[in-house]
Order: sequence, then structure tokens, then C-alpha cells
Amino acid sequence: MSKVTISAPGKLMLFGEHAVVYGYPCIVTAVNRYITIEVEKTKADYDILQTPGVSDKSFVRSAIELFRKKFKTEGSISLTSQSELGNYGLGSSAAVTVATIEALSRLYEVKLVPVELFKLCYQVILSVQGKASGFDVAAAIYGRTLYFDGQNKKSTLLYPKSLPIITIFSGKKGETVKMINKVEELRSKFPDRITGIFEKIRHLVEQARLALNESNWSSLGKLMNSNHQLLVELGVSNSSLNRLVMETNKAGAFGAKLSGAGGGDCVIVLYPQDKKEAIIEAIEKTGKEIINLKTGAKGIRPHPRIT
Ligand code: MEV
Repeated sequence: MSKVTISAPGKLMLFGEHAVVYGYPCIVTAVNRYITIEVEKTKADYDILQTPGVSDKSFVRSAIELFRKKFKTEGSISLTSQSELGNYGLGSSAAVTVATIEALSRLYEVKLVPVELFKLCYQVILSVQGKASGFDVAAAIYGRTLYFDGQNKKSTLLYPKSLPIITIFSGKKGETVKMINKVEELRSKFPDRITGIFEKIRHLVEQARLALNESNWSSLGKLMNSNHQLLVELGVSNSSLNRLVMETNKAGAFGAKLSGAGGGDCVIVLYPQDKKEAIIEAIEKTGKEIINLKTGAKGIRPHPRIT
């Protein structure tokens, strides 16, 4: 095959961040913003990597390295990326890893079923990041809204449509590794307290799964608020994330929470249709940016893209 082009979506964590790193379940949704990777073989003695919009190149480099080691492929490649994910913490590391490995597997005609693709990409993320659950890899591969079991890494499809969610960028990039390490430190100092919080998160995720299946938005919103409070207790929120959660609730949201590792990135807001305008106004008053996206997007696919 001469040239391969693959797109993989970003994600938003809906429930269960941090606890999922310790084997608890979470709920994640893929978003309709993608990273596209194009690869072809080149006669050059070295790889030509052009990755604008990918802030950490280590994921692409490690993905290529692992693929070569595992499948003993020879020759250099030319790889180009194009990203719609921006710097909002929408899972660009996982999306770029998934798209790179899938593109290489097609270029070298190595058949990878989704579970094998997951394993390889998760290995890449762990090698770069140290600690991670793999939920974002699952979202990039399978798309849609998923219940992800942090223990056995299995994904189950949940709500099939886009959710009534507004996504707000807090203005600051999140700090995934720093926040994961912070929680790890707390957990080693206060194991019972942190396990207690994780257990509460587990309960919340199970309730959210039911609420999603029933499209029970008012119950789902309350669960989002409770999840946010537990993340505050874990020490990963900050004043601008808390303010966005508070202001959007005041304006009539069903609920809101930070999404992802914390320390920055995004707040997600579940809204009743008749309160959408008021909520948007409240957000505008905070001066923060609304990111235009849809949840429940399709997973990895070759071009041409069909949305
Ligand atoms: C980061 O978006 C979510 C965390 O749970 C890390 C992970 O699950 O890999 C903090």
C-alpha cells in the first residue's frame, strides 16, 4: 500500500477519572474532533515526521518504535499529522497513538483486531506517561460513549447518541502526569480515605450508567455534581474549574464537572434545552471559551471520513 490516512477521535471523560487508573470503571465519550495521520514509505535513511498540533511528539516516536520492534518492519517512513483537537486536553496523545499504530498496520499489511490495537497503544501510552488507564485509547478506537472497565480494560457501548453537553475550556492546560502523581501520593499517605473516595466514584459510575441508559438527565446531572465534589476532595480541581461548575449550575444546568485529570482543561455541563441560552450567557460572563463539539462520535477510521 503506498499511502495510508487514518483519523482517530478525541474524548471527554464523563465519570470516573483517576479512580479508573486503579482499576475502577469510568464512562468516556468520543468527540467529533479528530487527529489524522498520513503515512507512506520513503527511500530516505531516516523517518520524516511532520506533526504540527501534536504537543508531545514522544507518543508518535514510541508508537513507531514499538511497531517496528514487534513486527520487525524495515525501511523509513514519512508521517504527517493534522489535528482538530487543539490544546484543550481532549485526548490528543491517545488519538495520535491509535491513528499512528493503525496507519502503520495498514501500511505494512499487518492485521490488527481492535483488542490487539488497544494493547499496543496502551503499551505506548504507559511507556511515555508511566501511569494511565487506557480509557482514552478505547475511546479513540471504538468511539461512541463507553463504559470502560479499568480492571480488565473491556469497553461496553452505552448511550448511542450525542449528549446535551456544553464543553468549556478553563483557560489552562491540564496537568495529567502531575495530577496522577498527586493522587498517588495522597493514596499512599491516606490509603483508606482515598480508597473510600474511589469506592464512592465507582458507585457513581454505576448509577450514571443506568441514568444514561434511561436518558435520565436530571439524575445524570446530580451525579456529575457529586463526581466533581469527589474530585475536589482528591485535590485535582482548582478555583476556575469550581467557578465554572458553580456558575453553570446557578444558571440552571442539570449538573457540571471537570473532565479529565484536572488542574485545568475542561468543564462539561449537562443542560436542559430551555436553559441552554442562560447557561451560555453565564459562561460568557466568566470570559471562558466554549468548545464546539459533539459527543458520541465514531471511532477510528480510514479516510475519506464520514461523520
Ligand atoms: C485523564 O484524562 C484521566 C485520568 O484518569 C488518567 C487515565 O485514566 O489515564 C486521570
